[in-house]
Amino acid sequence: MTALPPPLPFLPDLAPGTVWLVGAGPGDPGLMTLTALHGLRQADVVVHDALVDARILTLARPGARLVNAGKRGHQPSPRQADINASLVAEAQAGRRVLRLKGGDPFIFGRGHEEATALAAAGIGFRVVPGVSSGLASLALHGVPATARDSNHAVILATGHLAGDAAMDWRALARCGQPLVLYMAVSTMGPISAELIAGGLAAETPVLVVHRATTEREEVAEARLCDLAVMARSGQIRSPAIVAIGAIAALRRDILPHLTTAAVEPTA
Ligand SMILES: C[S@@+](CC[C@H](N)C(=O)[O-])C[C@H]1O[C@@H](n2cnc3c(N)ncnc32)[C@H](O)[C@@H]1O
Repeated sequence: MTALPPPLPFLPDLAPGTVWLVGAGPGDPGLMTLTALHGLRQADVVVHDALVDARILTLARPGARLVNAGKRGHQPSPRQADINASLVAEAQAGRRVLRLKGGDPFIFGRGHEEATALAAAGIGFRVVPGVSSGLASLALHGVPATARDSNHAVILATGHLAGDAAMDWRALARCGQPLVLYMAVSTMGPISAELIAGGLAAETPVLVVHRATTEREEVAEARLCDLAVMARSGQIRSPAIVAIGAIAALRRDILPHLTTAAVEPTA
């Protein structure tokens, strides 16, 4: 077993009766922050999402209670209100509570909803940022989120909209800036059609990264016009990041020298 690094005195302590909302990063424990690790080593209870990598959970303090607040088998996910209430109850019982989420807790992670519930209950909390899967998927595979000659903005968007919300995909297409899509596999057909209708070239380069930084990672290059069929035929599967724009092709010149294996194959 690998020894844990020594405690780091300059990091904050997770006080009893408080909650940390922590980003675990995309999967690879090496992409987790030192503060997240420090919190994991102190927490009495770790309430984690389904997408949090099993390797990261092994870093929790021995004796810590691990609570899976994500989807279990074919059962429905716990309601967000129940998760909020359990965080409040655990903290009110005087425990050190670490809420562990994939990527960054404030990027499509409902972290703000949990922070609002904690604040309303008068519970002290800290937000520990994490490496979001969208940005990790790009950088690890040699795709710059911004490149001076290519784009001056990058749009993070979700394909899974809350309630009756609607997204004006044509307007996003007209921005001419690259799109990094989360939770978009099941809506890939209509989204790609809208982007093309909004003026994006059908040939626009795309990079799809499934389960980035895990042993099950899969990467595919495509064109915008391929996405609907790829999603329908199962060539793109969730969870995935879909990056659309000229930046997706910028990796081609550097690929021969780029090590993309985030996880070294096990012997
Ligand atoms: C509820 S959102 C959570 C996003 C997370 N807070 C973040 O910052 O990465 C879940 C979506 O994030 C993306 N995602 C999370 N982890 C991923 C990974 N390791 N590889 C690819 N996509 C991932 C997928 O689009 C997935 O459907």
